[in-house]
Amino acid sequence: MDQYDRIMEAVEFIRRRSPLAPRAGVVLGSGLGEFAGRVADAVAIPYAEIPHFRKVSVAGHAGRLVLGTVGGAPVAVLQGRYHYYEGHAIEDVVFPVRVLGKLGISGLLLTNAAGGIGKALRPGDLMVIRDHINLMGLNPLRGANDERLGPRFPDMSAVYDPAFQEVIASSQAAIGLRPKQGVYLALSGPSYETPAEIRMLAALGADAVGMSTVPEAICARHLGLRVAGISCITNLAAGISAKPLSHQEVTETAERVKNDFIKLLQMVIPKLGE
Ligand code: HPA
Repeated sequence: MDQYDRIMEAVEFIRRRSPLAPRAGVVLGSGLGEFAGRVADAVAIPYAEIPHFRKVSVAGHAGRLVLGTVGGAPVAVLQGRYHYYEGHAIEDVVFPVRVLGKLGISGLLLTNAAGGIGKALRPGDLMVIRDHINLMGLNPLRGANDERLGPRFPDMSAVYDPAFQEVIASSQAAIGLRPKQGVYLALSGPSYETPAEIRMLAALGADAVGMSTVPEAICARHLGLRVAGISCITNLAAGISAKPLSHQEVTETAERVKNDFIKLLQMVIPKLGE
């Protein structure tokens, strides 16, 4: 069975569980999973039950697909993601996003926890991703290309849809959040960066650094989906503050901004499937 058949088997399974035809998809990052509880008329399917989905191992990631509505709009929420640093093959990391694509979404919102590098960023900020830099050391599209998933050489000149960026920025303004935007840079992790690495990443043009999102964004663009990204800045990157980094700080900051994050997503999501 090839990857395409596995994707379609997962799609058929999900369609048997729920007749909902989601227009928008969302991936909830580390510590940001609580939004899934705000989905109305929800049908939740643990990843363990969906054919070809892997086991989820990171603390703070629930590992289920939640189908339902947000502000009346049909949505598919991936509560928890697979990270490359967990040891998953990159095809497995991007598998759920491809399943949502074949389930029929047209817009995808990727969220993550990230370290702040840009001078304007503070812990607790929600940064609209303007562009990304892939320094994970691999590309999820490497290997034989399946035209049913997209073209061999997909354009990446506007990964993050400009109209979606505007929707998020105006929604931030509407709920009284300072609009922040920047470039997200992905490394494979799982160790956090050294201060010297952060100085290098700053010189390369990164505003935020994390260990996810980029493979999913590449595959979503490959599929022709419109993509949006929000980084929750959970900490200042290594060496910018004197404090050592910890996963606990990451989850604590995500917890602190949870209400703003939920409000923002409630405003944004109905506009992603239009
Ligand atoms: N670096 C990498 N990934 C992260 C960070 C960080 O500082 N914070 C949250 N995810």
